[in-house]
Amino acid sequence: MIRQGKRPGRVVVHQKKQDMKLKKILGIDIGGSGVKGAIVNTKKGELVTQRYRIPTPQPATPEGVAEVIRKITSHFKWEGPVGVGFPGVIQQGIARTAANVDDSWIDKDVNKLFSEVTGCKVHVVNDADAAGMAEVKFGAGKGHKGTLILITVGTGLGTVVFSNGKLVPNLELGHLMLHGADAELYASDAARSNNGLDWEEWAGRFNEYLLRIEELVWPDRIIIGGGASKKGEKFFPYLTTKAPVVPAKLMNEAGIVGAALASKYYNKLESKEVG
Ligand code: BGC
Repeated sequence: MIRQGKRPGRVVVHQKKQDMKLKKILGIDIGGSGVKGAIVNTKKGELVTQRYRIPTPQPATPEGVAEVIRKITSHFKWEGPVGVGFPGVIQQGIARTAANVDDSWIDKDVNKLFSEVTGCKVHVVNDADAAGMAEVKFGAGKGHKGTLILITVGTGLGTVVFSNGKLVPNLELGHLMLHGADAELYASDAARSNNGLDWEEWAGRFNEYLLRIEELVWPDRIIIGGGASKKGEKFFPYLTTKAPVVPAKLMNEAGIVGAALASKYYNKLESKEVG
């Protein structure tokens, strides 16, 4: 006799199997100077291996970076799902901007390119969105309601806003106009080193940027990520926003952890769409 109600049981078993499969994911963060990867425990938000870093090829073309992504997956002998944070707008796996990488990325299907070269299922998202997902789930945004903004300070200025835990992807507030130019050319970490600014001088610029963000977004909390998050003691004392400014708890690892979380999210979403 065929019993009714078998299907829900199967669905639960399928979900458990899928959760097991998605517990460990290779997360990769494409930065201006290095591409970094590690296997991430997506339940705990922790790296389970050492980070493996390869310098970002210059120029950072799709072919050059894809080869680096392939080297990282083969370093980990990885065949499972992969999440990648990319330093530009990503819509459904397609790059739409390329502020700090080669222009030939624009309109490239990056999910397809990286999946083909690695033989793995790769999902690509904006790097700041990835870092934000990690900080909200496991770091300095955990348990905080209201509006949070995370700003990654590195080669560019990456931004992501969460309202009560919900993210709007690809918010490009690093490209606000400040003194008639792109804000990230004035206040990113690269702007500090390129212009030979000391920390106090740069902090003045960065503070101007934060005040501008504050009058447009009105965040309840500002989280600073990216390379500069490790140097907080050098510039936090000069910041004068109303909202508290805190360093990312996962520091520079947020991008890797978040890329893995994004892959988990999309794998689950796609299996629901199919099932
Ligand atoms: C890009 C953003 C990116 C940020 C940090 C900016 O130039 O436009 O998409 O998140 O740099 O990499």
